[in-house]
Amino acid sequence: MPRPLTKRSPQALKLMLTLREFEAAQVRLPKPARDYFRAGADDELTLADNERAFDRFRLWPRVLVDVSERRLGCRVGGHDLSLPVLVAPMAYQRLAHTQGELALARAAAAAGSLYVASTLSTFTLEEIASVGGPRWFQVYVHKDREVTASLIRRAEAAGYSAIVLTVDVPVLGRRLNDLRNSFALPRGLTMANLAPYMASRHNATLAAFFASRHDASLKWHDLKWLRGLTGLPLWLKGILRPDDARRAARRGVDGIIVSNHGGRQLDTTPATLDALAAIAPAARGTPLLLDGGVRRGTDVVKALALGAQAVLVGRPFLWGLAQAGETGAARVFEILRDEFDRALALCGYRSVGEIRGDLLRCSDRA
Ligand code: FNR
Ligand code: LAC
Repeated sequence: MPRPLTKRSPQALKLMLTLREFEAAQVRLPKPARDYFRAGADDELTLADNERAFDRFRLWPRVLVDVSERRLGCRVGGHDLSLPVLVAPMAYQRLAHTQGELALARAAAAAGSLYVASTLSTFTLEEIASVGGPRWFQVYVHKDREVTASLIRRAEAAGYSAIVLTVDVPVLGRRLNDLRNSFALPRGLTMANLAPYMASRHNATLAAFFASRHDASLKWHDLKWLRGLTGLPLWLKGILRPDDARRAARRGVDGIIVSNHGGRQLDTTPATLDALAAIAPAARGTPLLLDGGVRRGTDVVKALALGAQAVLVGRPFLWGLAQAGETGAARVFEILRDEFDRALALCGYRSVGEIRGDLLRCSDRA
């Protein structure tokens, strides 16, 4: 088990004012875990560009609008959320804190958000479901398709309300420090969902796991097979091209998550904000979400102005967890909510539904 981390007092947490401060504070995490969480693929150009893209767009605020009452809520996949921020699916959350996925799912539920559980969680999907709150299940398709079918049946039985199929990992991206660290789960932690199907409890490196167990043959046609397994809504996560978005819309998927996996897969792909701008006109009304590099309330406003219903946030929640478990993750939500609320008011909007594309212009000076 990872050693327990020094808890930060509520007063100290209150003095953490930005999401980026949480990342900078993670010197206490064991290096392999910190490297794994932080990593992008190869030269990490996409990792950096995801954040930079938000700075390339400038906000052109409207003035003299009554913004004394504001509503931050939005509707995603039939759920009323208290703000347009979801928790991105992330593997191995007990590397950040002993309560891992349970603590983050609790913080999400308390914040009125939605938690997306990863196939590669370190508590089982049933344990995560026991926390309550809206939740989706992210799927990696195993070479043994029966394993995936069983996971989806379990997710449906445990009250998950959508399946998120991640489509940008036919093979795992190359994260150099993970290779240097021979990154694998430490003794005592498992890929809890998969343990019943795996003969050996031996924790292989993540790269070896993907190479031996993950199905790189998945194709568009297989969406039919997935649809046949469950009546749950199906979202595709990891789409960057307008033609792929059109294909997804034609196949009737319930939503698209514009994502490059936080820059962890193919390096030098476009930033997700740029991809969203390209995809929105092609999506034909299919609901869009975005993830990658969202670190500020103004980033959320920009993604919404370009056509996303909401965003998912990844690493900052892991840094919050590592800092102080559920309380740390709750503080990340609190900062995002406060920043988003202020940004909305300063842009001259009273609600999420009022945000329009004319709020943004691309700046050539970023
Ligand atoms: C991820 N991501 C991810 N995605 C997924 O579909 N299944 C998974 O198991 C994981 N695991 C995972 C682990 C870690 C440590 C990270 C940082 C990311 C990708 C994640 O859902 C999301 O796309 C990005 O993290 C979003 O970018 P930001 O917000 O971290 O910049
Ligand atoms: C990652 C995989 C597990 O990004 O999604 O590490």
